[in-house]
Amino acid sequence: MGTKDELLWYLRRGEGCWVSGEDLSGKMGISRSAVWKQISRLRQEGYAIRSSSKKGYLFLGVPEMLLPAEIREGIGTEIFGRRDIAYFGELDSTNRKAKEMAAEGAPEGTLVVAEEQSRGRGRIGRSWYSPAREGIYMSLILRPKLPPNEAPKITLVTGVSVAEALLAVTPLQPAIKWPNDILVNGRKICGILTETSTEMDAIDFVVVGVGMNVNTPEFPDELNEIGTSIYLETGKAFDRVTLLQEFLHQFEQLYFTFLKSGFESIGKRWGELSILMGKDVTVQMIDRSCSGRVLKLDRDGALIIRSENGELEKIYSGDIHIH
Ligand code: BTN
Repeated sequence: MGTKDELLWYLRRGEGCWVSGEDLSGKMGISRSAVWKQISRLRQEGYAIRSSSKKGYLFLGVPEMLLPAEIREGIGTEIFGRRDIAYFGELDSTNRKAKEMAAEGAPEGTLVVAEEQSRGRGRIGRSWYSPAREGIYMSLILRPKLPPNEAPKITLVTGVSVAEALLAVTPLQPAIKWPNDILVNGRKICGILTETSTEMDAIDFVVVGVGMNVNTPEFPDELNEIGTSIYLETGKAFDRVTLLQEFLHQFEQLYFTFLKSGFESIGKRWGELSILMGKDVTVQMIDRSCSGRVLKLDRDGALIIRSENGELEKIYSGDIHIH
């Protein structure tokens, strides 16, 4: 624990009571002016702390921000969100930054989180609407020991984890639209962008990017009909830290289950949460489109469709339109 985090821990432990500067300096083994310096840094980050020359310091509350110390506080994970967290007030894209860090050797479980993205990226060259402090914009670095053809399943594992997190901490009923959209009442509440770097026949790293619309009160015109947020669906603001912690908890469990025991149980849960099973759809792929009925998710994570001419089609990626 760094000095700032240690100070935060002592202030929190004060539970609404003043903590003297002398006490803090004694317990932490630093000078009173060093305590004051760290208090100023915490205030700059948005923590509300009162000070009095006689009584010391009073901890009043945490900022509504995705600060590393808040993410770590009480999180039920072993690695994800517990160890390496790179926090940015503003960033172009957490996926871009995570890929850069992964290429420089950042370990599995490194979390990149931003309050705002100026160039949030979506699938197929789209952008991701990322207004300041309204949503969760995060990327996680993974280094699974898997052959590259297993990588698409990580997107599906992420989708199930997002849906489970929403079920656990909100009253919403999320549905997964293959491969990576999470919908509520037919509108997109979360998107996932998985980017993989491979070497010969092994995965070097996977960056899982998640964008969740949490307290977004409104969307730009072009997204108005297709996007939604937890706030718009429930009429209530939600704590982004709690939601992020719950997602990381669900994801860590499912990711390691996938690595140890395979995809079967997660694939089954995916099927229960999916809105596509049995639906008539058109899939737009890069070079062609295909219409038909969705039959199942294949063992390798591909979607199996019976096309209009009766043939079975295996779809690995594309944009799906439900009829
Ligand atoms: C999609 O549905 O098209 C995927 C959207 C993924 C958006 C997230 S926000 C955090 C991470 N960083 C990015 O630049 N994109 C992903």
